[in-house]
Amino acid sequence: MRRVPLEYIREGHYNAKQIYTTNGQMLIGADVKLSQLYIDKLRAAGFQSLYIHDEFCEAEITEVIKPQLMAQIETISKNITRLASAQLSIITKKEEVSSSITDFEEILDQIMFDLIENTEVVNNLMSISTYDDFTFKHSLNMMMIALVMGNELGLNQIQMKELAMGCMFHDIGKLFVPKEILNKPGRLTKEEFKLIQEHPRKGFEFMREYTNLSAMSRIIALEHHEKQDGSGYPENKIGGNTHWMSKICTVSDVFEALIADRPYRPAIEIGNAREYIMGNGGTAFDINMVECFIKAINPYPKDTRVLLSDGREGIVTQVNMDFNTRPVVTIHCEEKKRVTPYTVDLIDNLNLVISKTIYLFSFEN
Ligand SMILES: [Fe+2]
Ligand SMILES: [Fe+2]
Repeated sequence: MRRVPLEYIREGHYNAKQIYTTNGQMLIGADVKLSQLYIDKLRAAGFQSLYIHDEFCEAEITEVIKPQLMAQIETISKNITRLASAQLSIITKKEEVSSSITDFEEILDQIMFDLIENTEVVNNLMSISTYDDFTFKHSLNMMMIALVMGNELGLNQIQMKELAMGCMFHDIGKLFVPKEILNKPGRLTKEEFKLIQEHPRKGFEFMREYTNLSAMSRIIALEHHEKQDGSGYPENKIGGNTHWMSKICTVSDVFEALIADRPYRPAIEIGNAREYIMGNGGTAFDINMVECFIKAINPYPKDTRVLLSDGREGIVTQVNMDFNTRPVVTIHCEEKKRVTPYTVDLIDNLNLVISKTIYLFSFEN
């Protein structure tokens, strides 16, 4: 399975994941062969990219979060969103929010277990991100990225949980920013931007007032937009004054936003988003966190199509996590012509590098 921008989808590709409209109706089922009509429909509905499989991909799909857990998380998240603005007494609100959080904590235990047990899932983390209206999906995706980084840093279970909860709730303060401003397509006025910049503090206050979440998780929410060089918000804190756990969140938050589809652009390819994070190490991001991120997040997950520096084209068939820019690639195309597949291990071929991710082989165009 691989995610492909809509412009590279061709008739005959197979849809890999069920697709729903925003009101929950199924638009296209999994394993449906795509016709031009379907492709046009998706474009009209505003989709920017699609998960597909074709004759070159391995058919099996590894879900990072099991679908039944996903559905439960969605229900919990909707519940908390509703409660946040409900007119209830502080005590009732607190009770109800806390019970939702307890439900979430149980699910989190399972997610963390899967994450640690199943390296396959982590190495192929790309399958997490699609554009979605719900802030919850962004939070969930960035939580997964943060947990992978946390795992790399060797955090213990309590720390992992605090990190996860901080991530899950990092943008909850957005519920208290007017929707018209959050979704405004054009340029924001100074005042509007100021209101948006208040969301970390508003989230922190909500968590303090209505939840029993740890101080650590609250601080993560408060500091997730602070930058290493002091150019962030709400307090323009410099790196030395923010908690290292918040810094995990800052990196994963930006990365998630880049690799997700947006209404006005398809997802930025993982390799390029990774370059962006690297390029801002030391200014926006803590350099140690960037290093951890580079080690932990695989830029070329299985089934990624790549162009090699000598012009050959192939598919990543085996990930090498000790050196994640040098996977095993199965070559399918030489000099723009299809060839009998054979593998090249980039660890044994140091004169070769991956030039970029591609979506179609030259002979398919
Ligand atoms: Fe935020
Ligand atoms: Fe965020």
